[in-house]
Amino acid sequence: MPRTSESPAARAARLRAAIHRHDYLYYALDAPEVPDAEYDRLMRELVALEAAEPALRTPDSPTQRVGGTPVATFGQLVHRVPMLSLDNAFSDEEVLDFDRRVRERLKVDDTPIRYSAEPKLDGLAFSATYEQGVLVRGATRGDGETGEDITQNLRTIAALPLKLHGDGVPEVLEVRGEVFMPLAGFERFNREAAARGEKLLVNPRNAAAGSLRQLDARITATRPLDLFIYGVGHVEGGTLPQSQGEIFRTLQGWGFRICPQSRIVEGIAGCLAYYREIGAARVGLPYQIDGVVYKVDETALQAQLGFVARAPRWALAHKFPAEEALTHVRGIEWQVGRTGTVTPVARLEPVFVGGVTVSNATLHNVDELARKDVRVGDGVVIRRAGDVIPEVVRVVLEEDVTRGEPPVPPTSCPSCGEPVSREADQAALRCPRGRRCPAQRREEIRHCAS
Ligand code: IVH
Repeated sequence: MPRTSESPAARAARLRAAIHRHDYLYYALDAPEVPDAEYDRLMRELVALEAAEPALRTPDSPTQRVGGTPVATFGQLVHRVPMLSLDNAFSDEEVLDFDRRVRERLKVDDTPIRYSAEPKLDGLAFSATYEQGVLVRGATRGDGETGEDITQNLRTIAALPLKLHGDGVPEVLEVRGEVFMPLAGFERFNREAAARGEKLLVNPRNAAAGSLRQLDARITATRPLDLFIYGVGHVEGGTLPQSQGEIFRTLQGWGFRICPQSRIVEGIAGCLAYYREIGAARVGLPYQIDGVVYKVDETALQAQLGFVARAPRWALAHKFPAEEALTHVRGIEWQVGRTGTVTPVARLEPVFVGGVTVSNATLHNVDELARKDVRVGDGVVIRRAGDVIPEVVRVVLEEDVTRGEPPVPPTSCPSCGEPVSREADQAALRCPRGRRCPAQRREEIRHCAS
């Protein structure tokens, strides 16, 4: 509650400090102390105070995330330390080779190297520079040497601190990380856009990239963006710890968001175990990843290893198999499930996706089939994420092809011939015969046996 004797300036300063602290607890530590409603109340009071007395506004005030006027084009910013890319590995052997090369160069023989193992976030790389602890500049990676000035857009992302927290912050500190759109935010945004009859975002990665590319930061501000910091660029007037793991802890203490799935592992065995673990956890993660990254943990060893071309010798991206692939529909069949649901299934030209060969993909239900407008002979994108049943994502129409007719949903059960029913509010067709339907009986036995 405001103290009656407090001046507006003192009250504004107190509110700013409180909001900064709550941001820190929420974003960096993932440990909020107050409910959202209380946070909103503090923010509204600060907005009102600053509106009544604009002189109270400071550039690092949490109300000043969304700036003024749109820009005509983005300015260019030269990275003081180039933003490199990573070498890729697609198999365990390639990871073993990487580790062998690291140990040979460091002449450590059989001593296991300690690595920082991190999810490879599928978003857009950025750099953010703080002077005296205040965010002053933000840039895209660009070609690695020069990026675009997206300071105004980055400022709108609540997960990026405008002002750093605690002691020992270097005079100049440039951090690097990835901006992404969490899956829940992506889905919510598209639901709302669809309800308003607006254009939908294609996928979370494009959504993040497109959002950061807006010339009007007020649009970026409406996008549900998040980010993690995964490294450091230029540092002046201060020092950082001597390992990636400790650097992460220090950055987190200053208010940065570090990926909670990052971990220190021992040797190549630790790396490969991490890859499998994250691969299995992938479908449940709130954000998209396309692999994991291994980095030699000790910065002194990183310096010894150095760089080749545009990638460091001390880091490697271990990619997951591609989850989407292109193929053709050979047929569309109707499958009766254990509970009588009749589902359209696409029979496909076999295609290697998500690490296995896929020749069937679900089309979910009649409505989805109609919405995606899939027909026999069409080119289609197939998706197989983790152990989830492969699905047809969308049709890819080639030029100059005459398409087949849209498939007609059955009126009777393809297994027992009983008329199928469809409830008014449901997308599923259903065979009502239960275990007297051979297909349902077979699926029931299969279900019990597994
Ligand atoms: S480190 C010198 N760590 O992958 C090290 N990059 O191909 C350079 N990425 O442009 C990057 N997650 O956008 C690093 N945990 C992670 C990452 C990561 C995603 C992206 C980043 C970079 C690309 C490299």
